[in-house]
Amino acid sequence: MPDTLTIIDNRTGKKYEMPITHDTIRAMDLRQIKVKDDDFGMMTYDPAFMNTASCISKITYIDGDKGILRYRGYPIEQLAEKSSFLETAWLLLHGELPTKAEYEQWTHDITIHTMIHENIKKLMDGFHYDAHPMGMLISTIGALSTFYRDGRDVRNPESRQKQIFRLISKMPTIAAFAYRHSQGKPYVYPDNSLSYISNFMSMLWKMTEPKYEPHPTLVKALDILFILHADHEQNCSANAMRSIGSSEIDPYSAMAGAAAALYGPLHGGANEAVLHMLDEIGTKENVPDFITKVKGGSGRLMGFGHRVYKNYDPRAKVIKRLADEVFEVTGRNPKLDIALELEKIALEDEYFIKRKLYPNVDFYSGLIYQAMGFPVEMFAVLFSIPRTVGWLAQWNEMLNDNEQKIARPRQIYLGHDTRDYVVMSKRG
Ligand code: CMC
Repeated sequence: MPDTLTIIDNRTGKKYEMPITHDTIRAMDLRQIKVKDDDFGMMTYDPAFMNTASCISKITYIDGDKGILRYRGYPIEQLAEKSSFLETAWLLLHGELPTKAEYEQWTHDITIHTMIHENIKKLMDGFHYDAHPMGMLISTIGALSTFYRDGRDVRNPESRQKQIFRLISKMPTIAAFAYRHSQGKPYVYPDNSLSYISNFMSMLWKMTEPKYEPHPTLVKALDILFILHADHEQNCSANAMRSIGSSEIDPYSAMAGAAAALYGPLHGGANEAVLHMLDEIGTKENVPDFITKVKGGSGRLMGFGHRVYKNYDPRAKVIKRLADEVFEVTGRNPKLDIALELEKIALEDEYFIKRKLYPNVDFYSGLIYQAMGFPVEMFAVLFSIPRTVGWLAQWNEMLNDNEQKIARPRQIYLGHDTRDYVVMSKRG
């Protein structure tokens, strides 16, 4: 059987044969389907990209029906158990696990870029005392483009590599400064004798002690959370990164856009929304009423449902286990009981079963972050640090892909046909 699709246009009776590759036809092959020679040609209509592959990628694989997530072929569960965030970052960016020498060099290259320019610090100082840390993060990432003007040389792989070091390295510093600013506390400069995660925790929480010593269980937990959040193929923010990056702007400007996409409550802002929802529910006893309200169309069960996963999000499973380890150190987050009750009732309820709505990554991660001492406003910031790796891997892959061009979707225009301008005195 040939790998082709035959289309008969009933308007003209004409028959077209389209090649099928990877269960996909090329949208441009449809353009030949016309009624008249001067027609534009057939397009597909796909709001929100529900069924459109916008790129070929070798980075992350998701099977939403089976609840599978793999980075470069490695199951997320194995990476969470055995790898580290920096090793996973290398894997996502380079395609293979690093050798010992590569890993050491990589760790060194990331570590030596942790400092930010004093003027960036001053810029962050300018934010209002109650500025949302995610707004500060987005603006500061964008501002980095004014400091690293070599970042515009996006066709140069060496330059790209340098910006990748800078961004992965500076994100924890900017995130921690945003947090300290919102707390009215002095900034803590990076300590390059610490690991990536420990240094981040030191910049967040060091007070007057000469050296900050984070709890190893919490370091490990944050490392695992970072692995789980590092990439998620063509999600809203990755698509923003690729789309903005396709104009060949520097990665700082593109990443400010990606981070802005992540800030939304339907994307990375969801774990913040989960905590607000749990606060609103208040007690375990109120859960059934809340579920009834959601089913009645009033609000959504935040942290539930996913565009791709129609099964339990594999990241949520790892996080649920991780929560127990963290709570042993920090004490149990009392909202866990409400969350567990919500999950139990929702997973048995016809409404959620029919729509295949399961807990996603955000359902439990916020509870851990809160138990570790993060205010809810920091949650999207915490998501952005590891996702930097995914954004950069997607950006790099896009720039290396000869088929990619500036992203420019089509539209179906249903507005007015041409009409003559009417002077104001004659308008109704
Ligand atoms: N609570 C209640 N009903 C829901 C929910 C929910 N969380 N999510 C989807 N539905 C219903 C929705 O009302 C619709 O029902 P009907 O067919 O009767 O109209 C049906 O399920 C399909 O929903 P949809 O909006 O067409 O699905 P989508 O693929 O466009 O949306 C989603 C995916 C993640 C935006 C959505 O499930 C949602 O809003 N979830 C809550 C927010 C959330 O947790 N987001 C984090 C996503 S995971 C982290 C990330 O990748 O960023």
